[in-house]
Amino acid sequence: METSGVEVPGALVKQLKTAGEDVRALFDRYVLPTYARMGVVFTHGVGNYLFDDGGRRYLDLGGGIAVNVLGHSHPAIIEALTQQARRLIHCSNYYYTELQAVLARELVRLIGPGKMFFCNSGAEANEGLFKLARRFGHPEGRFEILTATHSFHGRTLAGISATGQDKVKLGFDPLVPGFRHVPFNDLHAVREALSPATVAILIEGVQGEGGVHVARPEYLVGLRRLCDEKRLLLLMDEVQCGCYRTGRFTSWQRILEGSLEAAEFLPDGVAMAKSLGGGFPIGAFWVREAHTALLGPGSHGTTFGGTPLACATALAVLHTIEAEGLADRARKLGQWLLVELNHLVSRYPSVLREARGLGLMLGLQLQAEVAGLSNKNGLSPASQLAERLLQAGLLVIPAGTHVIRLLPALTLTEDEAREGLEKLQAVLAALV
Ligand SMILES: Cc1ncc(COP(=O)(O)O)c(C=O)c1O
Repeated sequence: METSGVEVPGALVKQLKTAGEDVRALFDRYVLPTYARMGVVFTHGVGNYLFDDGGRRYLDLGGGIAVNVLGHSHPAIIEALTQQARRLIHCSNYYYTELQAVLARELVRLIGPGKMFFCNSGAEANEGLFKLARRFGHPEGRFEILTATHSFHGRTLAGISATGQDKVKLGFDPLVPGFRHVPFNDLHAVREALSPATVAILIEGVQGEGGVHVARPEYLVGLRRLCDEKRLLLLMDEVQCGCYRTGRFTSWQRILEGSLEAAEFLPDGVAMAKSLGGGFPIGAFWVREAHTALLGPGSHGTTFGGTPLACATALAVLHTIEAEGLADRARKLGQWLLVELNHLVSRYPSVLREARGLGLMLGLQLQAEVAGLSNKNGLSPASQLAERLLQAGLLVIPAGTHVIRLLPALTLTEDEAREGLEKLQAVLAALV
């Protein structure tokens, strides 16, 4: 067997593949069917394009659900992974490693005074915030965390308990106690819902899975005041909307731009993952300075948290975004795309109801009933539209039953964005 370079995975696949069996059949036999996968088999990606096993090219505006922030096979990520793999891939958190310290310092610089904990995914980052809140309220017996309806916070048991969508909870009760949901962007509802047991409020700055809903500035500021007044922790789930997607490192920095409170606003805890590793798994949570003593030695841990390989990759991602001015690109291209999407809404009102979003986190809301997308094989209109776009060579991400999301790499060019709009327009035209 070839043992050098990129030949190893290819040779292994050839060796292990049984003649006549295709990848879909192997999945059917050996992989739990927890995802409703689309029919395509992807083999590789370059820049903002993915290629299937027949060599067909697809423009990727889904970005692996807001993960491939630098697109596919970006030289900076390849360089970081290969260089660091030669030095040190994993090292236990029993010891100090240089890159975890440097990445922590970077993230604190980008968020505000505080400290970091590193883990592997968004769900795990949120778990850390739940434990932080439990510790904070423990002396007074407070434990309840309020989250928003239509929120999404991950698929662990506490994650689905925190998530404000019934569909993720079905059949998994009893759930983790201590989570209640209140309408998003409704300060009054939060105030009304507070109980003596409430210890924290957790929200996404821009709801992603819930269909791309942006928090209003006065909502964020009001939550901060309420939390100060009632001694609650304000926790932000920046897993999908963070890491420059909206044009600033965190969504609240962008949402509050130009407001008087912008400089002072800081949550008490922030979860991140997805784009932070540009495709390599890494999650993290930040804790505000005043609360860093809550999680002391022995209180929390994870084997793979903050490995040298993950941290090297995240540092390369952050450095590239800054060096190439990609935050600004996300802001400007996002603004332009939103205008163009609104043109499509005006042009195809029988299919589209609204375009919304911030930076390169954009959603297209479908009409409740779309003639060309009637309920077929239990597939929602959003999934059906995503399938049709896939057939047209364009990848997007459904959110719920009636929204498709664009979460492209921040490296997306204007020409590529134009190509995406043309493909989208062609598919919409065929629906009316
Ligand atoms: C806002 C938000 N939080 C948490 C998660 C869970 O992240 P992960 O899938 O990495 O566990 C997601 C994933 O989509 C998310 O969008």
